[in-house]
Amino acid sequence: MKLKVEVWRQTGQYAKGGFEAHSMDDLEPHMSVLELLDALNERLVDSGEEPVTFESDCREGICGACGITVDGRPHGPDENVPSCHQRLLSFEDGATVRLEPFRSGAFPVIRDLMVDRDRLDDVIRAGGYVSINAGTAPDADSVPVTEEVAEKSLDFAACIGCGACVAACPNGSAHLFGGAKLQHLAMLPLSSQERSRRARTLVDELEAGFGPCSNYGECAKVCPAGIPLSAIAAVNKERLRAGFQRRLA
Ligand code: SF4
Ligand code: FES
Repeated sequence: MKLKVEVWRQTGQYAKGGFEAHSMDDLEPHMSVLELLDALNERLVDSGEEPVTFESDCREGICGACGITVDGRPHGPDENVPSCHQRLLSFEDGATVRLEPFRSGAFPVIRDLMVDRDRLDDVIRAGGYVSINAGTAPDADSVPVTEEVAEKSLDFAACIGCGACVAACPNGSAHLFGGAKLQHLAMLPLSSQERSRRARTLVDELEAGFGPCSNYGECAKVCPAGIPLSAIAAVNKERLRAGFQRRLA
């Protein structure tokens, strides 16, 4: 198949960027958009030009590194699928495909399609971890957790930190990402001991680094981990709970 690829080129955060057009042929429909970029880069390198900068690692939907905007949509046209699994099958033969970096004020462009997603790491540093000394590993059945709770917690722990939810949100909110962290840690016995402190610091960082949530719901439509919108409710629930705990203390 053939495609006309319009790819965003930008040499740095403050440099002026623009689209560069390339006609690509001999493409296989089962190729991913990242493999399309690989093919384009081979051609650019062969002709002595600068290859397009983009991020990827696992190419299996696990690491969260590969997020780009495809035809205006974070990750690409297929819902809840990461960029590394978006196939060219979704495009008509001869179509024009636009590849851009994730669009968000919170994610400045480093170069071409690569953005700086450090603000998500700031949220994790603010509370997305367990710091209490748990001692040596307890026997597997000494801390009872029902299968239902464990499964639900794992569902929220599936977030791969790609940032597509932020790029999809008209407000640039990271509530789906933050809520997933709060929800999965709040349900487990050990991590629940830091629940109130975590809720305060993590939500403060969400509000400092990202926009507010107005419940548009665009985030859940692009999330490759299938994090549900109920994660957003967890942000307000955990913050309220932490406020009551402080008053009672
Ligand atoms: S909540 Fe979903 S879209 Fe947002 S960072 Fe996690 S995996 Fe990516
Ligand atoms: S490259 Fe790891 S999720 Fe796409």
